[in-house]
Amino acid sequence: MKGIILAGGSGTRLYPLTVAVSKQLLPVYDKPMIYYPLSTLMLAGIREILIITTPHDQTAFKNLLGDGSALGCKFEYAIQEHPNGLAEAFIIGADFIGTDSVALILGDNIFYGSGLSKMLQDHTQIEGGAIFAYRVKDPNRYGVVEFDSDGTVLSIEEKPQVPKSKYAIPGLYFFDNRVVDFAKEVEPSDRGEVEITSIQNKYLELGELKVGIMNRGMTWFDTGTIDSLNEATDFVKAIEHRQQYKIGCIEEVALLMNYISTKKVQAIASNYGKSAYGNYLKTLVE
Ligand code: DAU
Repeated sequence: MKGIILAGGSGTRLYPLTVAVSKQLLPVYDKPMIYYPLSTLMLAGIREILIITTPHDQTAFKNLLGDGSALGCKFEYAIQEHPNGLAEAFIIGADFIGTDSVALILGDNIFYGSGLSKMLQDHTQIEGGAIFAYRVKDPNRYGVVEFDSDGTVLSIEEKPQVPKSKYAIPGLYFFDNRVVDFAKEVEPSDRGEVEITSIQNKYLELGELKVGIMNRGMTWFDTGTIDSLNEATDFVKAIEHRQQYKIGCIEEVALLMNYISTKKVQAIASNYGKSAYGNYLKTLVE
């Protein structure tokens, strides 16, 4: 399975923070935002990852993450000229995806919780599509999935004014290779975007969409607003202080997944001087 991180967009909801800096490079506590979705794909066992950015931000992402070899992965980069919608990721990434299945994660989505790795790894042999549902108080900000009393999916809608349920669809999607063709068929919505919910609805119509409930033990943040960005920072800080483990540490995940040796972590740590992050990497090696 290949992975795509969609890290473009205009970030206007975070202006002026994002006038000169990509949203997905802003700090979420002690590391750049993109570390979190990147570590999620890596935990799924995905090592070939395409990072889609705006034209002007690509260099900064390359400077930060390189070709992935430091993490035992392979990163490629592509540009989205305009924020035309999430489904465009599969068109931009068509050559990269080739004949494989693909996981798409949004560059501003953070997942954390017990059982996350297993849940992710269970989806890497996908036939059809798989998405998740997460209970929130403000579902109208998201894609919303409606279930009947047996748990059968009745509808999926993008940012409905009157949501039919409390279940938002987080920005993590697994699809088989047909997604590339389905994406090409999607017509722009009223707001002018090719919506990811159109693809979900296509798999739903075919009876090939699985929707897993992320229960209350799982934490999901979409960090697209100032408040949610700060909430995510507070959350990460609280957990990291309490447990002395880091969330979204890409070198730690690479080590855990046996993508790299302790020697490589040591080399990265020594480049990070006296930073708390560098010190954490040193403790991992020890
Ligand atoms: O966070 C989950 C939600 O993400 C889903 O529930 C929705 O179905 C989905 O449409 C999306 O809604 P958002 O309102 O969060 O989408 P937003 O426009 O903020 O874009 C999400 C991320 O993708 C953001 O980091 C910017 C990036 N992006 C967005 C668009 C539209 C791109 O890279 N390219 C784009 O064309």
